[in-house]
Amino acid sequence: MDPHEIARAESEYIVPIYVRPPMVLTHGKGAYLYDTEGKRYLDFGAGIAVTALGHADGEWAQVVAEQALTLVHASNLYHTEPHLELAKRLVTNSFADRVFFSNSGAEANEAALKFARKWARNKTGEASKSNIVAFDGGFHGRTMGALSVTAKARYREDFTPLVPDVTFAPFNDLSAAREAITQRTCAVIVEPIQGEGCVRPAEVAFLRGLRQLCNENGALLVLDEVQCGLGRTGKLWAHEAYGVAPDIMTLAKPLAGGLPIGATVVTEAVARVMQPGDHGSTFAAGPLVCRAAQVVFDRINQPGFLANVQASGSYLMDGLGSLPSDKLIQIRGVGLLVGVEFAASVKPLISAAAERGLVIINAGEKVLRLCPPLTVTREQIDSAIEIIGDCVASV
Ligand SMILES: Cc1ncc(COP(=O)(O)O)c(C=O)c1O
Repeated sequence: MDPHEIARAESEYIVPIYVRPPMVLTHGKGAYLYDTEGKRYLDFGAGIAVTALGHADGEWAQVVAEQALTLVHASNLYHTEPHLELAKRLVTNSFADRVFFSNSGAEANEAALKFARKWARNKTGEASKSNIVAFDGGFHGRTMGALSVTAKARYREDFTPLVPDVTFAPFNDLSAAREAITQRTCAVIVEPIQGEGCVRPAEVAFLRGLRQLCNENGALLVLDEVQCGLGRTGKLWAHEAYGVAPDIMTLAKPLAGGLPIGATVVTEAVARVMQPGDHGSTFAAGPLVCRAAQVVFDRINQPGFLANVQASGSYLMDGLGSLPSDKLIQIRGVGLLVGVEFAASVKPLISAAAERGLVIINAGEKVLRLCPPLTVTREQIDSAIEIIGDCVASV
């Protein structure tokens, strides 16, 4: 079908929630995407920080194909081995003791919030310790619970009333957090590096301070690593760099290499409160998605792979330093999650870059978010910086 016709027909059949650029994508390989016209794009968005191994990775595709011919879905009513194998990997390589799987980042956070509420209720014997503290600029998803802890008014205002008893505090402001977190708080949810919120890393003192405040007030620390976790920062978990261990961590985007998955990884103390029937999901943790995730996890969880992400991230940061500084406000980020803040909207730059064969995304109106596959090469980083440099004039 003609690409213009596809775009036109979509506008007829699809709920008009997304504004998409005109190209129609057909396939991908490594760090490249291709459209119906045969045009190649260097993919520095990775499907919003998802395709960590790039597109159509050979080993991943083979495992998925084999599993598709074996067993895709059985439901959580039954035992399957891939489910266990993935859970073991996450537990063995983190602070956590147990895992609950779901299908997306929002769902992973929904589970975290429910677990926290029940944990607090069990602990105190009453329902009043229900307060959840979240932060301005944070993004935790679009479902009602996840949206309730997401600050941005534009995402919330048409959908109220949301889940009650949430307090927002300014990000990276420990004294404000000290005011917000009380004995009534059951959980504090925070991204170690805010992704949608303009790519803003938490300060070390802030995250450590939150851990301390949670301890003092008998609250759980929930780290949302849906975007920044699993190797994107050059460490397996973003919080490793802070020397802070959470009670709950949520994962999703890259975990199954592009198939839908969410994971809520928790300590034994949290897990213990959940009983059969307390929560559930039909699709979660199917054999196909869990086998796919094992491939991703095993590839990323290697010192050489993670060291390379760190080196690629530094190389990207250094290269971005060559951009004309009069238009730039700040370059920030960790590893291969980098934000480039401009003085004006980056929408024209994103369009101009797509014309030149580079796919990039924004994080907020004025920030370019660069989150290529973790396997991106130096040459690909050079090409991306060259194209961004050529397009900076459009901002
Ligand atoms: C930090 C964070 N948490 C949660 C979510 C929601 O994930 P999903 O879109 O898979 O529901 C996102 C999505 O961008 C995210 O960046």
